[in-house]
Amino acid sequence: MAKQQEQHKQYTAAFAVQEFQNQLLYWFERQQRDLPWRQNRDAYRVWVSEIMLQQTRVDTVIPFYERFMERFPTISHLAEADIEEVYKYWEGLGYYSRARNLHSAVKEVQENYSGTVPDTPEEIHKLKGVGPYTAGAILSIAYGVPEPAVDGNVMRVLSRIFLIEEDIMKVKTRKLFEDIIRDIIARQNPSFFNQALMELGALICIPRSPRCAVCPVAAHCRARQEGVQESLPVKKKAKQVRVQEMAVAS
Ligand code: ADE
Repeated sequence: MAKQQEQHKQYTAAFAVQEFQNQLLYWFERQQRDLPWRQNRDAYRVWVSEIMLQQTRVDTVIPFYERFMERFPTISHLAEADIEEVYKYWEGLGYYSRARNLHSAVKEVQENYSGTVPDTPEEIHKLKGVGPYTAGAILSIAYGVPEPAVDGNVMRVLSRIFLIEEDIMKVKTRKLFEDIIRDIIARQNPSFFNQALMELGALICIPRSPRCAVCPVAAHCRARQEGVQESLPVKKKAKQVRVQEMAVAS
C-alpha cells in the first residue's frame, strides 16, 4: 500500500520542477489562444466552459459558449431560466445531460451558496456534473487553488514528460497523474499552470506527430529522450463484454 501511495515520487524525485514551471508559464503567457472563457476568471464562466469542453472541441464550443453567455451571463440568469430554454441554447452540442446537470447545480449554488460558486474541493465536488476534472479546473483557474485538473490532454502530456506507461483508462492512473501535479504545480499561479498543460496538449504535444521542435519543455521530456513520444500514452481498449454474458440479463 505504501508503495502505491508513493508511486508519484519515483517520477518527480529527479525532476527540475522550478525550471519546468518557468519555461511552461513563460510560453503560455506569450502563446495562449485568445479564448472567450479567458476574458476573466469568473468561476461561473470557467465552469460553463469546462462543461462544454468536456466532449466537444474548442472550435465547436466557441460560438455556443458566446451565445450561452449572452443569454445567461450570470448564475442567477441561468438558475432562473426554464430548462427547455437551456436545452435550446445547448442544441448542437449534444450530451444534454451536461446541460441538465449544469442547470440543476447552478440552482443549487443560487440557493445554498448565495449565488457564489464554492471554492473548496469538498463543496464543489458535491455539485451535480462536477467530477474531479471540472472541480480541479474551476478551483485552479478561477480561484487559484493548487488542485490538479487532469483530462485526456493533460494525461498525454504528462505520460510523455515522465515516460509513464500505465494505462490511462484506469482510475488509478489518473490518480497517479493528480499526485504528480500536486508535486509540480506552480503554487504562485496554479491557474496558468493547469491551463498551460491543457494548451500544450492542444497545440504542441498533440496525439500524432507531436511538435517537439517547438515545445517549450522538450528538454524535460523523458519520452523524447528515449524516442518513444509517439507511442504514449498507453490506452488499452475497454474489456469486451461477452455476448453470452449479456444475454443472461434478459
Ligand atoms: N480544454 C478543456 N479546458 C480547456 C480550457 N480551459 N482551455 C482550452 N482548452 C480546454
